Parts: sequence; structure tokens; C-alpha cells
Amino acid sequence: MPAPPRAAGAHLQFAPADTLYSGAAMATIAVLSQKGGTGKTTAVRTLADILRRIDLRVLAVDLDPQANLSDYLDVDPEASPTIGDVLVDRAQPRDAVHGGVIPANLGLAESELMLGGKMGRELSLKKALRELKPGYDMILIDCPPALGLLTVNALVAADYALISAEAQYFALQGVEQALQVIELARESLNPDLQWLGVVLNIVDMRTRHSREAFDSLREHFGEKLFEPTIRASIAYAESAERAITILDYRPDLAADYLNVADEMLRRLGMDDARTRLGALLRRSEAAV
Ligand SMILES: Nc1ncnc2c1ncn2[C@@H]1O[C@H](COP(=O)(O)OP(=O)(O)OP(=O)(O)O)[C@@H](O)[C@H]1O
Ligand SMILES: [Mg+2]
Repeated sequence: MPAPPRAAGAHLQFAPADTLYSGAAMATIAVLSQKGGTGKTTAVRTLADILRRIDLRVLAVDLDPQANLSDYLDVDPEASPTIGDVLVDRAQPRDAVHGGVIPANLGLAESELMLGGKMGRELSLKKALRELKPGYDMILIDCPPALGLLTVNALVAADYALISAEAQYFALQGVEQALQVIELARESLNPDLQWLGVVLNIVDMRTRHSREAFDSLREHFGEKLFEPTIRASIAYAESAERAITILDYRPDLAADYLNVADEMLRRLGMDDARTRLGALLRRSEAAV
């Protein structure tokens, strides 16, 4: 059998997972995917909820003009200023934080266009977050479903990139394309950016395509693929519609994201937070 093609950015997978976290009390994580609808926003929303439950100070940043995250997190649609204002220097970053969220709205699409003509256009988010960082233990950035200037801003501002992949036939290709953009950010503007891993989302292991997606990602990316996956369930859409977090809406499903959060904290070396998460995990196991 021919050797599998060398994946774009495959060397990144050899960064030792245990030593990723620098020991500082802060991590900024960009959640991205090349494709739309891989569960990025749901992941940011649910991880933010989990991390807050274990007393981490979390800032969620909506970097998508669709503003799904702002909506899921129940930010007033009229909230102002938003991330779009901050990126084009129309507002101070601290004024754009509304209940632990920097929301977006459709105006972000216009800001992205304006940003395109600016010097240092890739650095705007990094500059904005710099002054906010001391107030948080974790900043989670929800990227739009395109690998354009907004996602590049997220990757330049972040310490870590977490790729979300839907369990579909083209999962591998999508991850490779996202890795190329991560590599680009590392080579140019953010050499310290680390690839935290890839989470396989919307999974139904009873189907062949889910199992194949998992196996091919495992084959290409080894332990960079998170072992825990997120099962497909209509409950995610239902809970978003009702603005109830999945942990409360379907405690029996909560184990998926709790296990992903646990693996994420392990990779970040945040052991104290992991210990606190243990109690939530035991409660969710009891709910099954
Ligand atoms: N585990 C899951 N099982 C089934 N449906 C899910 C799951 N996670 C999210 N969804 C649903 O899939 C849709 C897309 O999810 P989400 O908005 O999180 O993806 P996204 O990657 O952020 O999309 P976009 O690329 O458009 O920003 C939503 O309707 C959401 O409720
Ligand atoms: Mg989204």
C-alpha cells in the first residue's frame, strides 16, 4: 500500500501535547474550520459554559458576522459596541465586552472590508485583546467559516488553534486546509501559535462515514486528534433555540463536551482546573 500523503503542517503534530501550556494563567484559543457547520460555535458556547462552571474567567469572542455565538449566548442584538467596531478602532475593547462576550453583528462584514485596506490589518484583534487578557483565564474565539482575514486575525491573536471537523467524507481535506492557514500565521505573524488539536464533531459512530473520518484523521494526525468526540444530536439545535446550555438541557449528553474540555485542559497543562472539572464529569456520568 502506498504511504499516505504527508499532510500539510503534519510536523506540527509532534509538538509534545503535555508541554504546550507555558504556565501563564492565560490561554487564547481560536476555534476554526475550513468548512461551515462543523460545530465551532456550539463548541465555543459549550466550552465557555463548562469552563465558567469550574470558576475560570472566560471571555468569548464572536468573530463571525453571522453572530451565532452572540445569539447563543443571549447577548442583546442591539448591544454596542461590537467586535466590528473594535477592529476598525471605532471603540475601546473593554467597552465591547457585554457579560463576558464580545459580540458580533452583520456590521462585522463591513469592518472586515475596511480592515482589508489598513496597515497591520492582521494584527487588529491581537492589539484589542492585549489589554483585556489580564482579566481572563481563557479567551475563546469563534471563527467564521472561511479562512480569510477574520480567521487570520484570530490566529494571530491566539496562543492555540483548535480545529473543529465534522465527521464527513471530506473531514481530512478540511483539516489540512485549516492547518495550512495555521502554518501561514506561524510563519509570518505568530511563530508561537500552537496547534492544540482537532475535535471530531457531529459524530455518529454507527455510520461508516463517521468511523472512516475518525480513522483517517487518526492515521494522519495521530494524537493531535482528540480521542473524545462529540456525538450528533438534535438536542444541540434545540438547546440553542431555547437558550439553555446543553449541560442543563441534556445532562446525559454533557459527557462529550466535558471530556473534550478535560482533554483540552490536559493539553494546556491546567491541572487545577482539570481537578475541578472532575466533579462535573462524575455528575454527568451519574446522569446517564
Ligand atoms: N453535536 C451536534 N449534533 C448535531 N447538531 C449539532 C451538533 N453541534 C452543533 N449542531 C448544530 O449544527 C448546526 C451548526 O452548528 P454550529 O453553528 O455550532 O456550527 P459552526 O461550525 O459554528 O457553523 P458556521 O460555520 O456556520 O459558523 C447548528 O444548527 C447546531 O445546532
Ligand atoms: Mg459558527
